[in-house]
Amino acid sequence: MSEAIILKGQVLSFDGSPFRPDPTGAARLHEAVAIQAGRIAAVGTFHDLRAAHPRARVVDHGPHVIMAGFVDAHVHFPQTAMIASWGKRLIDWLNTYTFPEEMRFADAHYAAEISARYLDLTAAHGTTTMCSFATIHPESVDAFFTEAQRRGQRVVTGKTCMDRNAPEGLRDTARSAYDDSKALLERWHGVDRISYAITPRFSPTSTPEQLEAMGALWAEHPDCLMQTHLSEQLDEIAWVKSLYPDARDYLDTYEAHGLLGARGLYGHAIHLEPRERDRLREVGGALVHCPTSNTFIGSGLFDMAGLIAEGQSVGLATDTGGGSSFSMLRTMAAAYEIGQLRGTPLHAAQLLWLATVGSARTLHMDGLIGNLQPGHEADLIVLDLASTPAIAQRTAQADDIWEALFATIMMGDDRAIAETWIQGARL
Ligand code: GUN
Ligand code: ZN
Repeated sequence: MSEAIILKGQVLSFDGSPFRPDPTGAARLHEAVAIQAGRIAAVGTFHDLRAAHPRARVVDHGPHVIMAGFVDAHVHFPQTAMIASWGKRLIDWLNTYTFPEEMRFADAHYAAEISARYLDLTAAHGTTTMCSFATIHPESVDAFFTEAQRRGQRVVTGKTCMDRNAPEGLRDTARSAYDDSKALLERWHGVDRISYAITPRFSPTSTPEQLEAMGALWAEHPDCLMQTHLSEQLDEIAWVKSLYPDARDYLDTYEAHGLLGARGLYGHAIHLEPRERDRLREVGGALVHCPTSNTFIGSGLFDMAGLIAEGQSVGLATDTGGGSSFSMLRTMAAAYEIGQLRGTPLHAAQLLWLATVGSARTLHMDGLIGNLQPGHEADLIVLDLASTPAIAQRTAQADDIWEALFATIMMGDDRAIAETWIQGARL
C-alpha cells in the first residue's frame, strides 16, 4: 500500500443535505484529510490522522479550504472554442454557432485537441468530474475518453444523436445512432473511471424512431446514464409540440420512447408543467440547473427552491458553451442570483453542496465522488479564500467561514483554485 498523505487546512465535508432549516447543519469542518491509494482514508483531527498514519507526508494549507472537486453535471466539451458567442437565442444560437463548431469534430485530431484543452481549463477551475455531451461523431467520444483516461479522471460522455433538424454532416440515423452508441458503450463503459451516457440531444433533433432506438438501447443497458435537454426555452417547447402533436408535454416525448428513468439527466428543465414535475419526481429523474446558460441564452429562471422542496433530484452545471463560464464558482454565483430574482436566495453551504454532492447524486456517483468521506475517491481542491485583493479584503472582514466562502463563490474564478487533486495525486 502506498504511503499516506495528510493535508491540513479547513477541510469541508457534508453529512447530509443542507436543504434543511439550518443550511450549515449538515456541513462538517475538520482539521485534516488523509489520502491513501487514491482514496480518502479519513477526515478528522490532525492528531488522530497523524497517529493512524505516522509515516505520512504532511502538507499544511493553513487557512485554505480543502473540499471535494466540483462535479459539473451538464456540459458540451465540443463547445469550448465557441463559448461566449453573442446575441442569439437557443435555436438560432445552435444553428449559427454550435452546429458549425461541432462539425469540426469529424476530425479526430481536432477532437483530441479540444478534449485536452477542455480538461486543462476545467481542472484549473477545480472541476474534477463532468457529464458531457460529445458530438455525433464517435471519434469525439473516443477522443474525450482517451484524454480523460490518461489523466485518471472520472468522466461521463456519449455520442450526441441527431437525425433531423441539423445540417448535413451532423446527422446520423436511428439505426446508426443505435449501432454507434452501442459500440462506444461496449468499448468504454466501466473501463477505469469512465462511464457512457446514452445521449439523444433533444426531441427536436431526433425523429420518434431515433428516440425509440435510444430507449431500446437504454433498456438493454439500464446501468448507463441517459442525458438530454428538457424545456429550456418557450420557442423550443412550442416547436416540440408541433413536432410531436400526440405528446402530452415535452417530457412525454421522452417518456413515450423509454427515455424517462431514475438514471435520466434532464438539462435545464425550466418551464415544467405540473404533470412533468410529478412524473420526474415519481421516477427520480435528475434535473440539471445551468444558471449561466439560462441567463446568457435568455432561457428563464429555474425554480430551485420549489423543485428541491417537492423532493426532486437537482444538480448544478456550467452547460459550457451555452453557459458563459468553465467555473463552477461562477455557476454557483449565477444560481444565487437566479434564486434572488425568484425571492429564494441560496446559502453558501447549499451552493457548495449542489456543486459537489448534489451533482454527484444526479450521476449516481455520490458513493464515489463529490464529498470527502472515507472510501471516496480522492478528487479534491484547495480553495484560496483570498485569491484576489478584492476578495481578500472581503474575507478579512468575514465573521465566519460561510461569509468568507460566499465572497469567493460570488467573486472567485480559477485564481481561487490553489490546487486540484485527482485520484490522490496533485495536478
Ligand atoms: N438544446 C439542444 N442542444 C443544446 C445545446 O447544445 N446547448 C443548450 N444550451 N441547449 C441545447
Ligand atoms: Zn446542454
